[in-house]
Amino acid sequence: MEHLKDIINPLLQWYQLNKRDLPWRKTKDPYPIWVSEIMLQQTRVEAVKPYYERFLQTLPTIKNLAEADEETILKLWEGLGYYSRVRNMQKAAIQVMEEHKGQFPTDHKKLLSLKGIGPYTAGAVGSIAFNLPVPAVDGNVLRVMSRITADAADISLQSTKKDWEERLTEIMPLDHPGDMNQALMELGATVCLPNGAPKCEICPVRKYCEAYRRGATLVYPVKAEKKPRTQEHLNVFFCTDGNKVAIHKRPQKGLLSGLWELPNTNEEIAMPAALQQFGILQAEITPMKNRKHIFTHVEWHMNCYFVTVSDKTETDLLWLSVAEAEKSFALPSAFRKIWQEGLGKIK
Ligand code: ADE
Repeated sequence: MEHLKDIINPLLQWYQLNKRDLPWRKTKDPYPIWVSEIMLQQTRVEAVKPYYERFLQTLPTIKNLAEADEETILKLWEGLGYYSRVRNMQKAAIQVMEEHKGQFPTDHKKLLSLKGIGPYTAGAVGSIAFNLPVPAVDGNVLRVMSRITADAADISLQSTKKDWEERLTEIMPLDHPGDMNQALMELGATVCLPNGAPKCEICPVRKYCEAYRRGATLVYPVKAEKKPRTQEHLNVFFCTDGNKVAIHKRPQKGLLSGLWELPNTNEEIAMPAALQQFGILQAEITPMKNRKHIFTHVEWHMNCYFVTVSDKTETDLLWLSVAEAEKSFALPSAFRKIWQEGLGKIK
């Protein structure tokens, strides 16, 4: 690939004709664009749509986000994962209210100074909302660019991402930077697919693609093997006293910090002792289906129990009616199926 710039016009033309009709593409307002970009870092477009609509209906302005209470924002994020992202969004919203008079800064450096906004998000929001000529390099863009140039640099390295940010900055079209960034992402999401399935036959930049020319699209991108996830074994308890159910707040540090959970212990802790630490003195325990949940760096193997409590003392467990729990408290996805199974057993 001799002149990287040559891909720009074909990409922009292709994008105009083929871009998906997405709710966050109907606006130039940085707030909803930012919300969509953070959500899209968690999951796919189709899964994001309902979360996006509900978030903006509940918190239509950045001021609303800055002033929302924590349980509300966590509930809006329930099931998306990486809850620190929405907490950081709230911190950034407070910064915008306090330091920028409620207006999103239009300057790239100032965008980068907001909590949780790194090079990707600053590039995406800056280019789409404010026409700033800055790239937005995510995994899709890295895959596309490494194929086009047959670049064997490991895309899991920060240095590779930084190199591409520099190379793309040099060729950003000043008139349509947001379209350029979105065209690269869109190509990655719909044509230049991962896992050995690129649709080269419909690719608008195939004739500039070095990997295609060499018949080597499957060689790229080069990505180092991830180290295996830590395996953790837990006992998880769905506890009811016949009326209320119990949830527990996780510690403020570590995985799912400060979120609500079903009471649980390390599998090593023997049974009556495990329940006693939650103040459960007498109970009937029946096994539920065992479950597994995969996080980015950890896998949980959960032995699950339905616990009918007949005697308990006060502890840090929170006992709530099912309706109260479901309305106000976000339960991370790891516990969702256990929760549903448990609800089916009450009555
Ligand atoms: N993925 C993340 N942001 C995107 C966008 N603006 N368009 C397409 N795919 C995306």
